[in-house]
Amino acid sequence: MKVFVGTIVHSTWEEPMNILQNTALGVHDSEIVFIEAAQRLEDLKTKYSFIDSDITYLTSSQFMMPGMVDTHIHASQFPNNGIKLDLSLLDWLNTYTFPTEAMFSDVKVAQCVYPKVVERLLKNGTTTAAYYATLHLEASKVLAQVVHDRGQRALIGKVNMMVNCPEYYRESSITESVSETEDFIFFIKKLQTPLIKPVITPRFAVACSLDQMKQLGQLAKKHDCHIQTHLCETQAEVTWIQELFPWSKSYTDVYDTAGLLGAKTIMAHCVWIEEQELKRLKECNTGVAHCPNSNISIRSGHCDVRQLICRGIKVGLATDCSGGYSSSMLDSLRRALDVSKSLSIQRQNYQFLTLPEVFRLATLGGAQVVNMEDRIGNFEIGKEFDSLLIDFEVPRSPLDIFDKDTLEDKIHKFLYNGDDRNIVQVYVAGRCVINNKNCT
Ligand code: GUN
Ligand code: FE
Repeated sequence: MKVFVGTIVHSTWEEPMNILQNTALGVHDSEIVFIEAAQRLEDLKTKYSFIDSDITYLTSSQFMMPGMVDTHIHASQFPNNGIKLDLSLLDWLNTYTFPTEAMFSDVKVAQCVYPKVVERLLKNGTTTAAYYATLHLEASKVLAQVVHDRGQRALIGKVNMMVNCPEYYRESSITESVSETEDFIFFIKKLQTPLIKPVITPRFAVACSLDQMKQLGQLAKKHDCHIQTHLCETQAEVTWIQELFPWSKSYTDVYDTAGLLGAKTIMAHCVWIEEQELKRLKECNTGVAHCPNSNISIRSGHCDVRQLICRGIKVGLATDCSGGYSSSMLDSLRRALDVSKSLSIQRQNYQFLTLPEVFRLATLGGAQVVNMEDRIGNFEIGKEFDSLLIDFEVPRSPLDIFDKDTLEDKIHKFLYNGDDRNIVQVYVAGRCVINNKNCT
């Protein structure tokens, strides 16, 4: 048993940011077994039979929050983080992104890049990530192995794409696409870890034929897999979809016809999405990965997250590296506020997102989008302990804390200005995967 005593911050559906002071949180193996007032510590010791040496007392400058969920990130695009953001989506893909991803035909590139990706994400407090690898089976396996070795929780997808993409970077047939994807599913099953799941990853409808998407949809059903793809990211892409699938009612209708919508499907972006499509996403309980940094950096548009929330559609946050230049979920949370506030400048009476709300999107919302709300996202009893230990007062702290600051102020200052220096420990399923405690 591990017990943490101090300030615990998390979201519930009733309260976006619930600050619990003097609280004891007990973890057995990977699971949260109690969260109670610290005054009850002596009773709890008897009830759950733990001893003083099992207890970690957080200092007054520390708090615990749930690990963050990155609902959409291209691990293979990491080498381009922070560069090549001068083009919009379709040109950006052809000019910079496909050539970079094509390098992963050499597994050595995967062996060099992927450990850096996973390390960076864990350090930044991303305990769960929905990754896109590349279309290469062997390189995708490297990503899965690295994630497994480092103990991160993840969905990992071998990318599928065959049409409207360069000859040097495409799958050669639907048969190959489906069989290699199934091989990848078997590889992940063999890892025998509950932390990693395969995700069927047709890149986007521009790059896949209807037949390919249908067969991938069937594969997802056969293995009860998650599905992830891109939807309504830019206007040019939506126009192209109308030309490619002239019979379709909408972009969403293409995926619907292919059998790709469902509660385990994650749609990235949804910037240029229409009323009927939103209704369909809600009916299918399909989640949206909001990628604010990417949407601004490659100038795709402003996603109206408030509308998604009001319609009861599941929404989480995502970095979408390298369309987004930062791999930090704290950045995504901040950019989500920027986008929402920009919309409120353009539209009268627009109710922009608040900091507690984006905190919830980064944690509980993300858990819902990856369809793991029953396991992760906050500190409910029975959930897995995916958690970050935050300290406001580490050496060389980026935070300016003053005596007048309330505890809530300090938490807000961390969310706005903190970085990985403030993230002292990271836990996934009860295991400490990052420990900078000696540095504090
Ligand atoms: N649409 C299809 N592929 C991609 C990609 O790699 N990044 C982004 N942002 N959008 C896409
Ligand atoms: Fe993307």
